[in-house]
Amino acid sequence: MDDFWKKPNKPILALAPMAGITDSAFRELCRRHGAHVAYSEMASADALYYNPKKTMELLRFKESERPYVVQLFGRRPECFKKAAVVITKELRPDAIDINFGCPAKKVFGHGSGCALMPQKELAREIISAVCENTDLPVSIKIRAGIKETDAVDFIESTKDLPYSAVMVHARTYEGGFSGPLDFDIISKIKGIIPGKIVLANGGINTPQDGVDILRNHPDIDGLGIARGAWGRPYIFDEISEYLKTGKQPEEYGLERIKEIMIEHAELIWEDKKELGMFEIRKHLAWYIKGFPGAAKIREKLVLVNSVQDVKEILAGISPE
Ligand SMILES: Cc1cc2nc3c(=O)[nH]c(=O)nc-3n(C[C@H](O)[C@H](O)[C@H](O)COP(=O)(O)O)c2cc1C
Repeated sequence: MDDFWKKPNKPILALAPMAGITDSAFRELCRRHGAHVAYSEMASADALYYNPKKTMELLRFKESERPYVVQLFGRRPECFKKAAVVITKELRPDAIDINFGCPAKKVFGHGSGCALMPQKELAREIISAVCENTDLPVSIKIRAGIKETDAVDFIESTKDLPYSAVMVHARTYEGGFSGPLDFDIISKIKGIIPGKIVLANGGINTPQDGVDILRNHPDIDGLGIARGAWGRPYIFDEISEYLKTGKQPEEYGLERIKEIMIEHAELIWEDKKELGMFEIRKHLAWYIKGFPGAAKIREKLVLVNSVQDVKEILAGISPE
């Protein structure tokens, strides 16, 4: 299979993986609004080993989402091996990613995610198990470090393996989701693996954040954006426009944002029906942050059950 990571669309703007957030509808929405690639929610390699049906359902996607990267987490190479085979044969996304960055208790506590960064031999076995059992390109997602192991050590000890790309969350494990960001270490990594794609992730919440990182670190191939796309799936378009014109893009107005909210509701309804309307409520609350009278509108939006509900509530909102 063609390695889409090698296509020269740079800087690459990626929707980073988020459990509970990057479902099919959100991936499609972000792709329509400028993301060049979208990652799945993390999927358990163990689940794919024992009982793949439910997890395969979680990973379903539409052709229009391509390039689509499926992310796996786990700790047992034999599970990654089987997961790679199943995903490659039955799902055929554009790439497979391996999670070496998650600090969440239910992942880290079982020895997966970021807990694997210091276990370099096991990490190598896992990467090899995936690379040897798929013809899809493979990527990894890591953190700036954990305890005595930093991202440079980790990359030094895996750089000979044939993965194509790495997304680096610029915070350490200890830094959680709000600690200091170290983008210099990401440049260092690019210097070690110049032939692989290196994406910077962490704290990119505005177009300015994204442009600053790319300007200060011109060696980095692109950005991974996670929470910055909450209520702002068009941040990808904004960054591209900023890079093209050299000027801060104008803030999206109320009417444009309302249209995107409806587009999101239609996409999620198409995919998940009533369950989708329950899940979109948090997104709707993120979109309206800063709207005039946001608190009152939020009270209504967190009760929506249909696209029509969303449309009716939004029709009642006008600029002050
Ligand atoms: C709700 C939520 C779910 C996440 N799920 C995943 C995941 O499934 N896989 C993963 O590698 N990282 C996951 N992350 C981490 C993000 O991909 C990203 O590395 C992190 O949020 C830092 O980027 P940001 O500052 O742009 O949010 C998640 C983060 C959040 C907030």
